Amino acid sequence: MNKVKIHDKTFEISIHHDKILERVKAIAAQMNKDLKDKDVIFLGILNGSFMFASDLFKYITVPAPISFLKLASYEGTFSSGKVKRLIGINEDIADKTVIIIEDIVDSGLTLEQIIKQLRGYDPADIKVATLLYKPEAYTKDFDIDYVGFSIPPDFIIGYGLDYDGLGRNLPHIYKVE
Ligand code: IMP
Ligand code: MG
Repeated sequence: MNKVKIHDKTFEISIHHDKILERVKAIAAQMNKDLKDKDVIFLGILNGSFMFASDLFKYITVPAPISFLKLASYEGTFSSGKVKRLIGINEDIADKTVIIIEDIVDSGLTLEQIIKQLRGYDPADIKVATLLYKPEAYTKDFDIDYVGFSIPPDFIIGYGLDYDGLGRNLPHIYKVE
């Protein structure tokens, strides 16, 4: 399937599944080196990261648990605007190296909210892994430690990412035509 139609938009293939898996394995290999001797916990951010987290974690060889968090749609406001509450933290992450697994970092607002809330649990360190990164759209300055692909600011779907609820099942990444 080179093209798919979802709702009103047509998408064309942008990154083939084989190429995604190759990067995922390379990131896992780097993590296995970097995280040796560290007390690590992986935290996948739902929903978008489920496929990336699942493939990545298969190639992680350091002993570490994985858990999944979600940003609840509305909770309150900060001076900076709407804040979403991070839910699902059942593990004790104090003094641990936390690896955030994200599907995509666009403006970085979501990542900022996640990092600020996680810091409240006193982890030893927070590292960020994202499959996709849009550097031209990024407005924050948190380090992103592991990036699968840096991409232009096009709207994309597949491999966990959706357009209005659909497209997460696609094995490849597609960009809007
Ligand atoms: P940010 O807060 O602007 O960095 O956006 C991050 C969130 O927006 C991601 O977790 C996705 O849910 C969504 N998002 C950003 N860009 C895309 C895209 O190209 N396709 C699908 N979802 C996207
Ligand atoms: Mg997301």
